[in-house]
Amino acid sequence: MADLPCSVLVRGGMVLAIFVATQVMSACSVIGENRAEAATRQLEFRGGELYSRNCLGCHGDRDALINASGAPPHNEHGHTWHHPDPQLTDWILHGKPGGRMPPYGDRLTNDDVPAILAFVKTWWTPEQRRTQADVSRNYDEFMRDEQPE
Ligand code: HEC
Repeated sequence: MADLPCSVLVRGGMVLAIFVATQVMSACSVIGENRAEAATRQLEFRGGELYSRNCLGCHGDRDALINASGAPPHNEHGHTWHHPDPQLTDWILHGKPGGRMPPYGDRLTNDDVPAILAFVKTWWTPEQRRTQADVSRNYDEFMRDEQPE
């Protein structure tokens, strides 16, 4: 060790420092991702509780089919994933005009609706989730192009 030239030691030290820094950085990003992941799971869980209490009776669970009350299923066989988040939020808070979907504005907070939507989205295929996320981002364009059903 003593007879190694200083320049070699310095270079070695720098390589080690860079190695440690990159390891720390990647560990931090894993922790960051895990935190985001945990926050999403928490949101979905809370949404599941709210859904059971408020929506399940009419819309049914993941395996629901269109039922006698006319409430459509929110699973991957339903139509919910065709609509952007702001439109779904509006229907949940204010009811669906001309339909039998009751308004929930006085029973749910603004934070509850994203939780319910996060829960319902766990029933969609990855492709449906991607499409619906795009549709939500392009909401204005979607509204312009939407044809009456
Ligand atoms: C009393 C029965 C009932 C309850 C309770 C109910 N809904 Fe509905 N919902 C309906 C009916 C019926 C429709 C269809 C209305 C229409 O298309 O005209 C509907 C439509 C919807 C739609 C639009 C159609 C679709 O598939 O996207 C959404 C979104 C929705 N409901 C979400 C919810 C959520 C979230 C809850 C709980 C907070 C809830 N509903 C509670 C009866 C209900």
